[in-house]
Amino acid sequence: MTPPSSSSKTKRALVTGASEGIGRAFALKLAKRGYTVTAVARNASRLDSLLAELGGSGHRKIVADLSTETGLNSVVDDLTNSERYTLLVNNAGFGLVGDFAETPLAKTREMIFLNVTALVDLSHAFLGRAERGDGIIQVASVLGFLPMPRQAIYSATKAFVASFAESLWFQCRKKGIMIVNLCPGSTATNFPDRAGWSKNEIPAWATESADTVAENALVAFERKFGPTLVSGWMNRLSLLLVRLLTRKQLVKVMGTVRK
Ligand SMILES: NC(=O)c1ccc[n+]([C@@H]2O[C@H](COP(=O)([O-])OP(=O)(O)OC[C@H]3O[C@@H](n4cnc5c(N)ncnc54)[C@H](OP(=O)(O)O)[C@@H]3O)[C@@H](O)[C@H]2O)c1
Repeated sequence: MTPPSSSSKTKRALVTGASEGIGRAFALKLAKRGYTVTAVARNASRLDSLLAELGGSGHRKIVADLSTETGLNSVVDDLTNSERYTLLVNNAGFGLVGDFAETPLAKTREMIFLNVTALVDLSHAFLGRAERGDGIIQVASVLGFLPMPRQAIYSATKAFVASFAESLWFQCRKKGIMIVNLCPGSTATNFPDRAGWSKNEIPAWATESADTVAENALVAFERKFGPTLVSGWMNRLSLLLVRLLTRKQLVKVMGTVRK
């Protein structure tokens, strides 16, 4: 049976990691822009309070752990068989701080599964049905362009996302499908607490709000600005300046950030 397609006027977005932080900001802004939002995360009660705030009708939640095959498959199934989505925001992710060899391998693999495997599978399911005007916002990080000792795997997962998103942008633009590689810098969310470093390590003046990051990304998406949006002029300037360093100098500098 052919899955139902959305009418040309229906805007439907699926946002992963919508219960908190940047994903929550995306969900709120998309609802204001007339999208019907499907919010995905593990925490059902936080998703319920988000849905209450979204108001309107048609918004829904999927409670799923995207670091497991079962959770991921349930969202792939929704992307494949429910009414067609017009926007996918691949935002769910987490970081880990610590020496690679001393970090339990299971935790590292969980992060790779969420940050990389889930993002790839969801992109594949979405693009299988995508039409002209649809798109994906892939949430990478400025660390996607920087090696980060003591956060080695996290940076590597974001390097994967950034590279994948840029290549996908090139392939998809011929079909009128927009891909944005969103690279936030320090953003005021609970992400640092979960990753195991202090929020105070990065000064407030160098930190953007989740609201600003989501707004910047949506404006880039709407203006078909691609492939990469580094959110915030300070982050853009930093990435420009580090190009003057050799790779060895760069990794040494980054190695002093998180000891
Ligand atoms: N904050 C920063 O400084 C920063 C900088 C650059 C890039 N980023 C990226 O931005 C994205 C969002 O981060 P954030 O700062 O908003 O972090 P956050 O506040 O910790 O939010 C993360 C979201 O992902 C969800 N999530 C985590 N594990 C999940 C899982 N296994 N399955 C499903 N959902 C899961 C969480 O919800 P549940 O716990 O309810 O599942 C939550 O909604 C991430 O990809 C992160 O790497 C963040």
